[in-house]
Amino acid sequence: MKLQITGFFTVILLMSNASANDGKELYGQLCASCHAAESNPKVAPPIFAVVDHVRQAYPKREDFISRIIEWVDEPETEVALMPGAIRKFNLMPKLGYSQRDVEEIAEYLFDKDTVLSKEYVEHKKKGHGNN
Ligand code: HEC
Repeated sequence: MKLQITGFFTVILLMSNASANDGKELYGQLCASCHAAESNPKVAPPIFAVVDHVRQAYPKREDFISRIIEWVDEPETEVALMPGAIRKFNLMPKLGYSQRDVEEIAEYLFDKDTVLSKEYVEHKKKGHGNN
């Protein structure tokens, strides 16, 4: 019974968070396993490096968002902004995520950019910014 109650409140909590933190949560569920900044960069480039590259090529919010959606839908070597990362980690797999989820994530990543870029500056200072 106790377990059931805990589960019930967890559902309520998740629902009440949904609108504000959707992008962040979805990012945590769908992208962080490979792109987490704090993990050793062995599977994929850290997310702040990814955001920095995409942001430089697509500085406008809507362009940035469509670029992320298109990339996740169909990662392709020919259009990659980080060819060094492909050589190091191989091409990102096609994951079949829903476009709506990826859009939420892209919005979150763009709006978080200032924070991420600061981390990236630190990252570059440590000499790991060559991807
Ligand atoms: C299974 C591991 C994995 C997951 C999950 C994953 N990625 Fe990646 N991603 C990679 C790898 C590896 C690369 C580097 C090689 C490349 O660019 O294809 C990459 C590169 C990228 C790039 C750079 C593309 C470019 O132009 O070079 C973007 C943008 C990106 N990922 C976004 C995402 C987003 C958003 C999610 C979650 C919806 C996500 N990734 C989930 C492995 C992953």
